[in-house]
Amino acid sequence: MELQSVLYVSRSNIDFPNKAYLVGDLVRWSVSWNRRVGITGALAFTETHFSQYIEGPPQAISDLVSKILCDDRHCNVDVIRIAPTIDRTFQDWSLAFSGPDAFTGDHLRPLIERDLEDKALTDQLADKWIRFLKEMAAATQTHI
Ligand SMILES: Cc1cc2nc3c(=O)[nH]c(=O)nc-3n(C[C@H](O)[C@H](O)[C@H](O)COP(=O)(O)O)c2cc1C
Repeated sequence: MELQSVLYVSRSNIDFPNKAYLVGDLVRWSVSWNRRVGITGALAFTETHFSQYIEGPPQAISDLVSKILCDDRHCNVDVIRIAPTIDRTFQDWSLAFSGPDAFTGDHLRPLIERDLEDKALTDQLADKWIRFLKEMAAATQTHI
């Protein structure tokens, strides 16, 4: 079955740390919805930014992306890559979650601050970032 994948970065509108619980609510909701519709992926939260990679049936992905784009818990959604894929990268995770922490932010910064004109560099940074998310997911050892 052909799958669709999406990677984006956005600016968080969540007042951190005062309303950190809102991120937990978001992750809990997402895990349960993603499981129902066959979406897998990962979400990183760096206190100021979100980055999410999701993969799944094209219709489910497109429905979810429409919702995510108009969610007021974040803004400036920068869609870095939309691509068909055959194999899942996060097959064991409905939504692996990493954050909030500065360490994640250090790894995300090159992607946020990339030269938007340089497509080859963007691709390289995106691949590196997805590998980082996968390592974070594997290290948590909780398959959700
Ligand atoms: C950064 C971010 C990531 C999100 N990721 C997901 C997700 O993976 N799955 C999901 O169901 N909702 C996710 N949401 C929430 C959706 O935007 C939306 O609120 C949710 O699907 C409920 O939409 P509804 O009330 O219109 O049904 C995310 C929201 C934000 C801000």
